[in-house]
Amino acid sequence: MNNPVTNLSGLDLRAEIERLRREKNAVILAHYYQKPELQDLADFVGDSLELSRKAAATDADVIAFCGVKFMAEVAKILSPEKIVILPDMEAGCSLEDSCPPDKFRAFRAAHPDHIALTYINCSTEVKALSDIIVTSSSAETILAQIPRDQKIIFGPDRHLGGYLSRKFDREMLLWPGVCIVHEAFSETELLKLRAQHPGAPIAAHPECPPAILDHAEYVGSTSGILNYAKAMDSAGLGNTLIVATEPHIIHQMQLAMPEKLFIGAPGADGNCNCNICPYMALNTMEKLYLSLRDLAPRIEIEEGLRLDAKRSLDKMLDMANASVGKGDLGNRG
Ligand code: 13P
Ligand code: SF4
Repeated sequence: MNNPVTNLSGLDLRAEIERLRREKNAVILAHYYQKPELQDLADFVGDSLELSRKAAATDADVIAFCGVKFMAEVAKILSPEKIVILPDMEAGCSLEDSCPPDKFRAFRAAHPDHIALTYINCSTEVKALSDIIVTSSSAETILAQIPRDQKIIFGPDRHLGGYLSRKFDREMLLWPGVCIVHEAFSETELLKLRAQHPGAPIAAHPECPPAILDHAEYVGSTSGILNYAKAMDSAGLGNTLIVATEPHIIHQMQLAMPEKLFIGAPGADGNCNCNICPYMALNTMEKLYLSLRDLAPRIEIEEGLRLDAKRSLDKMLDMANASVGKGDLGNRG
């Protein structure tokens, strides 16, 4: 349920959030796809793997998660003794929606000789049914540690799964889910944009369809794309970058490199807002303030389910740590 509509007029929300953060000993974690004002007041902004690690390590009493529900659930799974709040409980994910636990259980049962390597963008129930969780920044490192003769189910993102499958030359059974945001990029419009900015590289998230990834100089997680942007000077890549992922990440690029031009890749009509994640956009300053004030809405997970889901998440953290620093998907190849 959403927070009730409250008259917040006249409140200095930033100051109030600061006050509540101190009073409640809260840490604010934000994903790169959050609105700039939320990124700016967060204690930490990161990708899914980094946010999981922060949630596991924090000594705060409260984790205020500016992201989507599956991310806040991961924080609760890893830090059960903390109060975990999500400003808007409706902040879901199309990938999670594409993979109902009962259907996933049946799919697994139909392929008993396969392990389930599962993208973190899924429900707690699906994590509990999985063997190893991956994020886009840890998927390659983890896949490289799985023996080549081991059969794999990869879900729920068929584009990330397909990308890994091509890159590793390794067949996997793919669950047919997609991210509605990355699915909306248009190859035709992307090529028109590139023609207007000759020489500008394209950096893309692996949730994009292959028609987009095929044009990208770099494919990687949100933090990978940010690092690629930061290395543009040293790599001699010029002053313009086309960014094929949710455009709020551009805020961090502009903060770090105000002199450069970062252009969000276009959707089908060349000029739509269809690449803004509608779920991430549900979180606002007002809702963050209310959730800190009321310590609600809270993430609660039944203990048996939490422990089952924690197994596959712990596996991810162990395997991703096995080669910290080499984790991202890197240049496509
Ligand atoms: P990363 O930040 O891990 O690259 O994931 C992106 C994403 O889809 C968040 O929903
Ligand atoms: Fe889910 Fe896509 Fe939004 Fe990420 S950007 S939360 S994958 S719908």
